[in-house]
Amino acid sequence: MSKKGDSIQIARAYLDKLVLEGRLFGAIKPSSKVTVLGREFETPIMTAALSHLKGGMKGFADGARQAGAICSIGMGDNETMADAISSGASVLKVIKPYEDDAQIYSRIRFAEENGAFALGMDIEHAINNNEDTVMVLGEDVLKVPSFEEMKAYVASTRLPFFFKGAMSVQDAMMAKKAGAAGIILSHHNSIAMWSIPPYAMLAEIRKAVGDDFILISDGGIEDGYDAFKVLAFGADLVTVGRPLMGAYNTEGTEGVRKVLEKMTAELRSAMWHTGAKDVESIDRSAVHEAWWL
Ligand SMILES: Cc1cc2nc3c(=O)[nH]c(=O)nc-3n(C[C@H](O)[C@H](O)[C@H](O)COP(=O)(O)O)c2cc1C
Repeated sequence: MSKKGDSIQIARAYLDKLVLEGRLFGAIKPSSKVTVLGREFETPIMTAALSHLKGGMKGFADGARQAGAICSIGMGDNETMADAISSGASVLKVIKPYEDDAQIYSRIRFAEENGAFALGMDIEHAINNNEDTVMVLGEDVLKVPSFEEMKAYVASTRLPFFFKGAMSVQDAMMAKKAGAAGIILSHHNSIAMWSIPPYAMLAEIRKAVGDDFILISDGGIEDGYDAFKVLAFGADLVTVGRPLMGAYNTEGTEGVRKVLEKMTAELRSAMWHTGAKDVESIDRSAVHEAWWL
């Protein structure tokens, strides 16, 4: 049932109005490979930071590894993080903004000592949806960290750090000043009602932060054509959550690999049809708004 103000529905409506301009003549078969923080991946489509996965983290992360994709993981203890890393995947661990800093620093240290690829923090999860209270998860209370706290988290680790939930020029600039490697634009599956689609802010944010700051975007991305549109707007990477969760529940590791590979093939198809030989060449001007839809 549709709910007025649901940010995922708003985001879907936005993506569904975008159509692609064919630039086929002379086009060559494209590559979807990307280099991120010095490592090469088969695809700019990565897993969203998920939690509560029925089959555990290791099998999920292994599906990402097999597809050559980065695997971000969400809430969980250090054992869950170790499970994901043991798959051999490049794991971006997204830590909750716990009120208790000890919870944060224990995960930062564990990630560093156990070979995580990168770290993040989903600040957007701190405030309850439809209430003016902070989130309480079991025994844990979350907070919106201060700028000083953000700087301290980044400075405490040699791992690249991403702040998740930044969707404005103001927040992106604050993340950059705090020393982050990039941001993950997200409203966390509609945690904030009436949110602008994350990717609708990409162009403005890219202009403000420059080219060397990594922009990752999520929000209802369902296939490789959606991924193409979001990359065209200026994202370096996109994340996919719920479609992978469904595939993992029914088909396990194989399901995650298959969905990521299918989406990447669709992305390459969109690239080929629009004359983009690689991810860097995806051109914003090939995406049009269909006023008649
Ligand atoms: C079951 C579930 C658990 C999630 N857990 C986390 C989490 O622990 N940390 C986090 O940063 N985001 C979490 N998310 C949010 C996702 O990372 C993502 O922002 C959101 O689902 C939007 O992407 P999607 O439309 O591709 O699913 C979760 C989402 C779902 C559906």
